[in-house]
Amino acid sequence: MMEITSPGKIILFGEHAVVYGKPAIAAPVNSLTTNVKLKETDDEISKIIVPDKSLTPEERNRLEELVELMKKELDIKDNFHITIDSSIPISSGMGSSASLCVSIAKSLFLHKNNSVDVDELSKLALIGEKIFHGNPSGIDTNVISYNQTLFFQKKKKNEFIKIKKPLNILIADSGIKGSTKRAVSLVKKKYEENKIIYSKIFDDMEKISIVSKKAIEEGDIEKLGRMMTLNHALLKMIGVTNEKLDYMFSSAIDYGAYGAKISGAGMGGNIIALVKEEDIENITEALRENGAVHVYHTVIK
Ligand code: PMV
Repeated sequence: MMEITSPGKIILFGEHAVVYGKPAIAAPVNSLTTNVKLKETDDEISKIIVPDKSLTPEERNRLEELVELMKKELDIKDNFHITIDSSIPISSGMGSSASLCVSIAKSLFLHKNNSVDVDELSKLALIGEKIFHGNPSGIDTNVISYNQTLFFQKKKKNEFIKIKKPLNILIADSGIKGSTKRAVSLVKKKYEENKIIYSKIFDDMEKISIVSKKAIEEGDIEKLGRMMTLNHALLKMIGVTNEKLDYMFSSAIDYGAYGAKISGAGMGGNIIALVKEEDIENITEALRENGAVHVYHTVIK
C-alpha cells in the first residue's frame, strides 16, 4: 500500500490575473492536507473510498474519471482501492481539488516508477485538475507539487521565493462555497466586454506581484501588507468579492492586520490577513464575529 499526503495552498497575490498570463504568488499550507492511500486490487475496476462522507453520484463519477484519466496518461492497467481523507475545506480557495490531484498523481507515479519527477507530477496533476475547473492556470497544482512558495507565471519556469521573515497569515473561511469555474468565467465575460480596462487592472496586479516578491525577499512586511490590501481593491473591481468577504476583510484591517485580501477565485471561499504575532488572537476573534466559520493560522517560512 502507498500513502501520500499533499498540502493545501493560498494565493498571496495575482489570482485571476494569472489566468491572463500575469505572474502570481502562492504558498503551501501544510496544516491542511489531503491524504491518499493507494492499494492494488484484483477487482475489475478501481474504487474510490471516502470515509465519513457520502459522495453524490456526480462527485463519485468525477473522482473515477480523474483516476482513469491519470492511469491512462501513465499507461497503468492495474486497478486500485483509493482511500481519500482531506482536511482542506472544499470550494474554499484552499486548493482541495489540486491537492487531491497531486496526491493521486504522486501515488500512481510511485506505483509505476518508484520515483517521482516533480515537473512531471505537476503536469499530470494539472491534466487532472481540468476535470474540476475547466482551464486552470496551473498555479495550484504547481505550488502543491513543489510544496514551496512560488512566483508562478504560465509558460515560464517557476521561481521559488526565499522568505526573509516568516509571515503570520490568518485564513478566514467565509463558509460560502465558491466555484472557481464560475468566477473565472464571470471575469472572462467582463474582460471580453471591457478589454482595455481589465487589461489595465491585470497589469496593476502584475506590478503588485512583482513588488511583493521583492518585499517577501527583503522581509518588508509592512509593504507586503499594503500590497495585499491594494490587490484586494483590484479584486473588488473585477467583481469577485461579496459582502461577507468585504466585512471579514474590513474587520482584519480594523483590528490591525498589515493587510488583507481574498485568496483564490473569490465570490465565496476565504480571505487571508497578514498579521503581527501578538494580534493573532484578537484578529481571529474579530474575523469570527464578522462571519468566518473557521480561522486557520499558518506561518509561511
Ligand atoms: O482554486 P482557487 O479558488 O484557489 O482559484 C485559483 C486561482 C484563479 O486564478 C482564480 C484560477 C486559476 O486557474 O489560476
